[in-house]
Amino acid sequence: MTFSRFLHLSVLTVAAHATPLNAFEYDYIIVGGGTAGCVLANRLSASPSVSVALIEAGPTVFNDSRVLIPSPAGLAWGTELDWNYTTIPQAYANNSVLTYHAGRDVGGTSTINGMVYLRPTADEIDSWSVLGNTGFSWDSLLPYFKKSEHFQLPTDPRPRAIAEASYESSVHGFIGPVKLGWGNDLAPGVFGQALNTTWQSLGFSWNADPNSGNNTGLGLFPIEKDTVLQIRQDSARSYYLPVIGRPNLHAFTNTTALDINLDSGKSHHGPKSAVVAKGVNVILPSGRKQLLRSKQEVILSAGTYRTPGLLERSGIGNPSILRNLSIAPKVPLPGVGAHLQDQWLVNAVYNANFTPTSFVASYNAKPLSASVTAAELFGSDLDTVAAQLYADIPAYARTLSEASNGAISVQAQEQILLTRASLFFDKKVAIGALTFGIFGGNCWVTLPLSTGNVHSSSDPSDPSKPLINPNFLQLPWDLLVQQRLFSLLRRVLASPLVAATLSPNTIELSPGYSLLPANASLPQTTAVFQAILAPVWHAVGSAGMRKREWGGVVDEEFRVYGTKGLRVVDASVVPVEVNGNPTSLIYALAEKAAEDILRDCK
Ligand SMILES: Cc1cc2nc3c(=O)[nH]c(=O)nc-3n(C[C@H](O)[C@H](O)[C@H](O)COP(=O)(O)OP(=O)(O)OC[C@H]3O[C@@H](n4cnc5c(N)ncnc54)[C@H](O)[C@@H]3O)c2cc1C
Ligand SMILES: *[C@@H]1O[C@H](CO)[C@@H](O)[C@H](O)[C@H]1NC(C)=O
Ligand SMILES: *[C@@H]1O[C@H](CO)[C@@H](O)[C@H](O)[C@H]1NC(C)=O
Ligand SMILES: *[C@@H]1O[C@H](CO)[C@@H](O)[C@H](O)[C@H]1NC(C)=O
Ligand SMILES: *[C@@H]1O[C@H](CO)[C@@H](O)[C@H](O)[C@H]1NC(C)=O
Ligand SMILES: *[C@@H]1O[C@H](CO)[C@@H](O)[C@H](O)[C@H]1NC(C)=O
Ligand SMILES: *[C@@H]1O[C@H](CO)[C@@H](O)[C@H](O)[C@H]1NC(C)=O
Ligand SMILES: *[C@@H]1O[C@H](CO)[C@@H](O)[C@H](O)[C@H]1NC(C)=O
Ligand SMILES: *[C@@H]1O[C@H](CO)[C@@H](O)[C@H](O)[C@H]1NC(C)=O
Repeated sequence: MTFSRFLHLSVLTVAAHATPLNAFEYDYIIVGGGTAGCVLANRLSASPSVSVALIEAGPTVFNDSRVLIPSPAGLAWGTELDWNYTTIPQAYANNSVLTYHAGRDVGGTSTINGMVYLRPTADEIDSWSVLGNTGFSWDSLLPYFKKSEHFQLPTDPRPRAIAEASYESSVHGFIGPVKLGWGNDLAPGVFGQALNTTWQSLGFSWNADPNSGNNTGLGLFPIEKDTVLQIRQDSARSYYLPVIGRPNLHAFTNTTALDINLDSGKSHHGPKSAVVAKGVNVILPSGRKQLLRSKQEVILSAGTYRTPGLLERSGIGNPSILRNLSIAPKVPLPGVGAHLQDQWLVNAVYNANFTPTSFVASYNAKPLSASVTAAELFGSDLDTVAAQLYADIPAYARTLSEASNGAISVQAQEQILLTRASLFFDKKVAIGALTFGIFGGNCWVTLPLSTGNVHSSSDPSDPSKPLINPNFLQLPWDLLVQQRLFSLLRRVLASPLVAATLSPNTIELSPGYSLLPANASLPQTTAVFQAILAPVWHAVGSAGMRKREWGGVVDEEFRVYGTKGLRVVDASVVPVEVNGNPTSLIYALAEKAAEDILRDCK
């Protein structure tokens, strides 16, 4: 399937076809059958009197072993189930071009991701209210986290395994669609025990349940997996498969949305009347172009990279960007695509050389991951570091505002940065994550301040193809935090107790102490990180839920500003980068959005 073939056929007019006139009319049209899209398909079609169309560019993959097999992740990467994007050259990272995976099938990126279920922290969600979302708080979102969740308890009878898999039952859901649980390899093994002891002896904490709203410390995270069938529990399996037979739910697979059909609705509602979404233009698998009409709403769930492009292709976006793409602006909304954020990691690779027996003893090795706060990371330097960040915020705000093509004013950007700094230093939320293993480890800044963007390309073969720019390393704060995280990673792995569980004569192959000495300066560290960094693929924020004058694209009920009958529900609405891993949050947001949408049903 190539886009050029689609395009070629799309110019044919749909003069006469056998389908009845109203066959392509639905109450709701969901664009993108991915992680969020499947949630909406399920919840919106719950009432038989409501008709729903789900449009997905890729196929269904329920029996595809590249998706089903939980480990290793990555079996579907680079295949036809992966959009397999690349970034634009990264201006602050020696122009490196990075691969961006994204699922292209029903279930979307949840069919190809790492399956980790780890929520953001309570203070982060609470801080969204400052951004304009006064109805948002951890307490108000927690019921939706629980609604989506089917927490499976370990069936392994070994008492030790069960004891270590501790959890706070009040924050979990046990009857929702997304099955998750711990792996079978819960017993910590020699490496995990040494890590746990070392971690705590260095003054850091053990976290009995990192999904409780506080993820600080070393802990065990669950994964999105059916622990009985031992298969990946993606969004399609959780939300779409159980309702696949509903006659009022029509999934258009292998069908690509081109743009939204907008009615500028000038007359009736006075001069301030909104532009109304009336449907979606798609390319059917036959190659024919078709308008699907919506009686209630169109909901974009095409993900962080494609949702902005679909808005832009429909004339909703920054007028100067639209003009460059020769698109007539219909709704000036400069925030579209303007606030993409992602995390990047640095790997330490060890020359582990294990015999099968010592491998099992060491690698049966949970826990492996931890989160740390600024206070923990900077210790006695904390006050100096905090003062420096506050002093840098005005300049950072100018840099970010300029890079946003005017979408976010300097003042708004300053407020956003101050809210972040308050999370770091007052609320003491985690700002970095580390994972440890016998083959090395990695670490990443969980709440970076660097901010990128994603806009539609003008590629004639795929007009909404995204130009992805995470702008890694744009602001020095991120580098400083990453440098400290990497030192901590090395310190833990080199501690005598942990080192004793690794194979003898283990050395760090990459980056290695000759390339990156322990006392390396920040510029030297920067050059090394620029060369070895990799995306974490937690990109959010490209259609942010924020005040309109702060570069927002949707209000707190997911409605696109300046429009009627149009919402965005996917990772792009997450207004700023978060701790944890996005799917937990996306499931909760989509559950909430479904209620918001049905409440407004005409
Ligand atoms: C390699 C990798 C590992 C990850 N690991 C984890 C992890 O361990 N835990 C975690 O929580 N998160 C992880 N993530 C992130 C997480 O999976 C994503 O943030 C999340 O799945 C995004 O959900 P979404 O609904 O926003 O978009 P998606 O799930 O990507 O859905 C978008 C859908 O829209 C479709 N689409 C796009 N454009 C069109 C169009 N024009 N017409 C029709 N259909 C269209 C796409 O094909 C896709 O199915 C990982 C991501 C990657 C890439
Ligand atoms: C969708 O495309 C896939 C190939 O990617 C093909 O195997 C499948 O049969 C198609 N399904 C439909 C419904 O067109
Ligand atoms: C998967 O394949 C099996 C065996 O062919 C079949 O019984 C089952 O219905 C398939 N499941 C789905 C969801 O297609
Ligand atoms: C995916 O993209 C990478 C570049 O990032 C490229 O090397 C690879 O060939 C691509 N895979 C496919 C199947 O196109
Ligand atoms: C930047 O990238 C170029 C091309 O890949 C490479 O030759 C050069 O050594 C890199 N510079 C640094 C400082 O790493
Ligand atoms: C780690 O240590 C804590 C407290 O000392 C303990 O409660 C926990 O069970 C340990 N975890 C593992 C996996 O050993
Ligand atoms: C989170 O947990 C850590 C470790 O138990 C504790 O020190 C810290 O105060 C907690 N933070 C918040 C915001 O509750
Ligand atoms: C529009 O294109 C011009 C000419 O290439 C360029 O200078 C300008 O920066 C572009 N504007 C935006 C907002 O991208
Ligand atoms: C790091 O230490 C080495 C000696 O161990 C010394 O030669 C070098 O100058 C130091 N570098 C910095 C940046 O301090």
